[in-house]
Amino acid sequence: MAARIIDGKAVAASLRAEVAAGVAAFKAETGAVPGLAVVLVGEDAASQVYVRNKNKAAEGAGMRSETIRLPAHASEAALLDVVARLNADPGTDGILVQLPLPAQIREGAVIEAIDPAKDVDGFHPVNVGRLWLGQEALAPCTPTGVMRLLAASGTALRGAHAVVVGRSNIVGKPMAQLLLRADCTVTIAHSRTRDLPALARSADVLVAAVGRAEMVRGDWVKPGAAVIDVGINRVPGAAGKDRLVGDVHHAEAAAVAGAITPVPGGVGPMTIACLLENTLKAARARRGLVRRA
Ligand code: GUN
Repeated sequence: MAARIIDGKAVAASLRAEVAAGVAAFKAETGAVPGLAVVLVGEDAASQVYVRNKNKAAEGAGMRSETIRLPAHASEAALLDVVARLNADPGTDGILVQLPLPAQIREGAVIEAIDPAKDVDGFHPVNVGRLWLGQEALAPCTPTGVMRLLAASGTALRGAHAVVVGRSNIVGKPMAQLLLRADCTVTIAHSRTRDLPALARSADVLVAAVGRAEMVRGDWVKPGAAVIDVGINRVPGAAGKDRLVGDVHHAEAAAVAGAITPVPGGVGPMTIACLLENTLKAARARRGLVRRA
């Protein structure tokens, strides 16, 4: 039987509508609207598209959104100045510095300069620590989106074996923690893992976040498993045009899995919806409207 396709576009649209309603309630309560600031250094084409989409989605949900652009040769000090100004600005609830940054700027220094209460990416060590301690935290958007997709697909998590392939700070590590919180037994696998296909085949929930096109093949998938494909890879397609594929060989895996996300239209749309949710959450927390641990 072919796998159910988990429709990320639909789940994201419903989350965006939920956030828009939350923004309206926030406005009624406080007279203000949540503000998101996105900082983009340089001209990277993919980053430009992401940043435009983030702003459009924020405005679509009724938030205030601004983009601060710095040239590719900007110094670390110049970027830290921008972060300091946004930290001090009462109208800015969420700050997102688009990664990757140019080589002359230390990513860690910039992330640590962001006020943890405004860190809607959930990358600051304070938020990472809170997440791992099981405390209330701003959690990274992509793994949060994956959890929502698993919930929407009706995947049972308690006691399930979840294998996360990839150990990045943005996806793999926080993904493992969120699955652990949901009572999965979690294995984090990576490029040095021995016999990765056999390990993957033992997963009830398989999350691929490695950035290697179609690495996960059909015979890596346990029959009936939920397969979440976080990858977005450009590969040469027909007629000289690029085509987007995930980290999973979709056709092969879909023949074996119980449920699977497509690329595009799976995890991708969820990331921005969760960013909006984090921005509303930060805005509420900053005004004491919700409990912070
Ligand atoms: N670059 C790729 N993914 C992300 C993300 O989730 N947040 C930021 N800030 N940059 C990214």
